[in-house]
Amino acid sequence: MNIRPDLGLTFADVLLVPKRSAIRSRSAVDTSTWLTSDIRLTIPVVSANMDTVTETQMAVAMAHAGGIGILHRFMPVERQAEMVRRVKRTESHVVEHPVTIRPQATLAEARVRMEETMIGGLVVTGEDGRLLGMLTTRDVLLTQDLSATVESLMTPRQRLIVAAKDATLDAARLTLHTHRIEKLPLVDADDRVVGLITAQDIIKLQEHPQATKDGKGRLRVGVAVGVRSSDLERAATCIEAGADVLVIDIAHGHADHVIEMVKMLKREFPRSPVIAGNVATADGVEDLAQAGADAIKVGVGSGSICTTRIVTGFGVPQLTAIADCAAAGAKLGVPIIADGGIQTSGDVTKALAAGASTVMIGSMLAGTEESPGAAVIREGRRYKVVRGMASLTANVARKEIEQQGEVDPDEIEKVVPEGVEALVPHRGAVRDILHQLLGGLHSGMSYAGASTLEALRQNAEFIRITGAGMHESGAHDVSVL
Ligand code: XMP
Repeated sequence: MNIRPDLGLTFADVLLVPKRSAIRSRSAVDTSTWLTSDIRLTIPVVSANMDTVTETQMAVAMAHAGGIGILHRFMPVERQAEMVRRVKRTESHVVEHPVTIRPQATLAEARVRMEETMIGGLVVTGEDGRLLGMLTTRDVLLTQDLSATVESLMTPRQRLIVAAKDATLDAARLTLHTHRIEKLPLVDADDRVVGLITAQDIIKLQEHPQATKDGKGRLRVGVAVGVRSSDLERAATCIEAGADVLVIDIAHGHADHVIEMVKMLKREFPRSPVIAGNVATADGVEDLAQAGADAIKVGVGSGSICTTRIVTGFGVPQLTAIADCAAAGAKLGVPIIADGGIQTSGDVTKALAAGASTVMIGSMLAGTEESPGAAVIREGRRYKVVRGMASLTANVARKEIEQQGEVDPDEIEKVVPEGVEALVPHRGAVRDILHQLLGGLHSGMSYAGASTLEALRQNAEFIRITGAGMHESGAHDVSVL
């Protein structure tokens, strides 16, 4: 029998040994890190590409907080691309392609467009792209005649304040303030609309100073893709919509078809970073990195909703997997994302101390307001649903999307799930959960005497603990109120 001599360890098997610290305040630490070699995050947290975790709202909340969200792939490609567009439109220095409408359109059509795009101010343009007016929610709020034309309701061009296409942000801010307006169309010499600056975007810039943004001031977002030939098209459509990073989402990422897909994506889209996974070994990291992966996701069977280890017998306890993979990643200059099994802020600190650059979180975020799906009430308490992407219901939902209709019961019986569906307590807003997680991480860094994550890695000394040590670690021998 080929058996490794060491014990596989996970988060609860170890503690970090306190070190001499010069850090006086928990706020004096820097948690910034690299997702890939060209995407910097101010907090080392990524929301999981699961259909009960990351859609538009989660991606926006994560990017606002300084992390990033990865949109799951279990939906038609157009829907995924639309989510990318929505995240990208949330804020930017300049809205490059403002939502437009023609003057002949009806109020009914304008309302649908506002709802579909979640945009409250439509730019009215002619066939030639020239600016004819603006229509805002205020213009349509009290009107009952749904057949009224946009032209009859809009603020016409002659009453609009506009700016030249190269107006600076400061000049735009002054114009918006001076005229007490909320939207400033940018026009070229022929009066064609080339952009829009909004007061809201300028305010948001100040509200989320540590947000994760691209060069145009738009929030960053990632998209998950698979390994089929149709996934090349998915990648192309999402990149066109503005996706910042592609994540190849395969349970056993150390596989020939994943290596091929990494190469193909790097060849087709050389400017897009590619994250590949999941793996649990140094060999897995080396093969994916050599294929061109810009970061690697680590975790096989570690997730809270995973049953892969039970169903297949395979996996590596997560802390050992992170340490092995991070050692290989460090040699190759490829960051590691510790994916799955994070239950506490202490686990985040341990994952980063073991060498991960970021952590990916699923079920802890599934209970937030920003996760997809409504809250359910059970015995007077609020919960939300989380499901493994290899669970029975997720498999059925996937087949329904692929077949565009109901799935044959015989096919359902053939599914061998490697995940479960579960309820998690409703936990409020993403920012509240992140506040707790990062507060714990900041404190952990001060115990390590580390003002940066790099120093945390270097200073880290783990100690294995016994069951008695673990018992001592939580509240014990008292009745917790
Ligand atoms: P947490 O513990 O944060 O883990 O909820 C999230 C990660 O779990 C993985 N995942 C699965 N693994 N079967 C599995 O074996 C599944 O059905 C499944 N669904 C998600 C995934 O890596 C995710 O990021």
